[in-house]
Amino acid sequence: MDPALIAALAGARHVVMLTGSGTSAESGIPTFRDAQTGLWAQYRPEDLATPEAFERNPRLVWDWYACRRELVEAARPNAGHDAIAELDGLLHRFTLITQNVDGLHQRAGSPTVIEFHGNIMRSRCTAGHPADTVDESGPRPPRCRRCGALLRPDVVWFDEAIPGDVLATATAAVDDCDVLFAVGTSAVVQPAAGLAAQAQRHGALLVEINPAPTPLTEAADFALTGPSGCMLPKLAAALRTRRQSCLT
Ligand code: OAD
Repeated sequence: MDPALIAALAGARHVVMLTGSGTSAESGIPTFRDAQTGLWAQYRPEDLATPEAFERNPRLVWDWYACRRELVEAARPNAGHDAIAELDGLLHRFTLITQNVDGLHQRAGSPTVIEFHGNIMRSRCTAGHPADTVDESGPRPPRCRRCGALLRPDVVWFDEAIPGDVLATATAAVDDCDVLFAVGTSAVVQPAAGLAAQAQRHGALLVEINPAPTPLTEAADFALTGPSGCMLPKLAAALRTRRQSCLT
């Protein structure tokens, strides 16, 4: 691990980390742009995760999310998620923003997670009511117990706005940070992808972790080329060692 990066992190006032679906790849959850398999091989996620797709065929979209929920339930956080949870205690101030809808950061123990694109384990009514209990035994999608409207996954679809409070909290953290990590994201979906440039505009360091190049790689101050389940534990170990040597 580059000692200059570890020194920068140890001295940082506020570190923000933006994660994408690559962070969950080593938990067996395919990334968004991976080809789908089985029944779903004929569809692209971009064609299912939209308000138009749900309007056209709500059952198809509901069933696709039900299948992804099963995958998430069977998955476990990987070493990358665990290291991120540890970073929270190793850094002066740490804010985690995730584009992932799988809840694996919370299951790994990250105390506060800004869920930029929602969470597939939650549902909500298309007329706006929260759905605390979902009856999966009847017609799909189930209907809202209060108003009878269809339920949908509580996620942000393509062409939908990020909820105002979520966007405000995330951008305030990015405006305040001195280091921004982009981990496991192809950095092509806005507005999340723009958070890196936003941080760099006010002088924050940009650190990328990804096995493949992205539109951010050239502009990154540090590009750690490799899977997050390998790079993040190394990073956490280097910070832990530095902390111990400062204490002794
Ligand atoms: P993508 O599928 O676009 O990108 C996944 C990224 O993870 C790629 O850059 C891969 O190189 C990288 N990757 C693969 N394996 C990895 C590993 N083991 N460790 C680290 N990185 C790895 O997923 P996102 O960038 O998350 O939005 O996509 C962003 C958003 O687009 C998603 O939240 C979703 C999607 O469409 C909505 O649903 C609104």
